[in-house]
Amino acid sequence: MKEVILETNIKVYSVTELPDEFEKLAQSAISATSGAYAPYSKFRVGAAVLLENGVIVTGNNQENAAYPSGLCAERVALFYAGAEYPGVAVCAIAVAAQTEEGQVEMITPCGACRQVLLETEIRSRRPVKVLLCGLMQIYMIESAASLLPLSFSSFDTH
Ligand code: THU
Repeated sequence: MKEVILETNIKVYSVTELPDEFEKLAQSAISATSGAYAPYSKFRVGAAVLLENGVIVTGNNQENAAYPSGLCAERVALFYAGAEYPGVAVCAIAVAAQTEEGQVEMITPCGACRQVLLETEIRSRRPVKVLLCGLMQIYMIESAASLLPLSFSSFDTH
């Protein structure tokens, strides 16, 4: 028997330390929380996707009385980017969330969104940086693949 340990490298920036190039992206994710339709969970999530052409596309969670019919902010933003800018690579995604008490300190993408992020990377053959935007700190993961260890992808079916 042997043990395998998987590690995830996360850079933690204080809000003032965040590199300038990501400041607008983080702010866009925070602003996007206000457009969420979240009457059931009251958990308002915003996502901002930075494309290689410099465009920032935002999305937010869109809920439904038939709960599984709703969609997370990350996938709303990623699918909108794919629909509006087909073939344009995604460089980074920032995510933020608000409860009725205010902005949450740490929001991480759900498993389904991680799977979609992984395929976004595979399609464009370039890493997607993931920025998790808290009130005090921003957590940066250099590649979405590291958020989904032992992942399943189209590579497994060929
Ligand atoms: N949600 C997101 O939009 N993104 C996440 O990363 C986690 C969860 C949404 C789904 C649902 O509308 C609400 O947050 C509560 O789970």
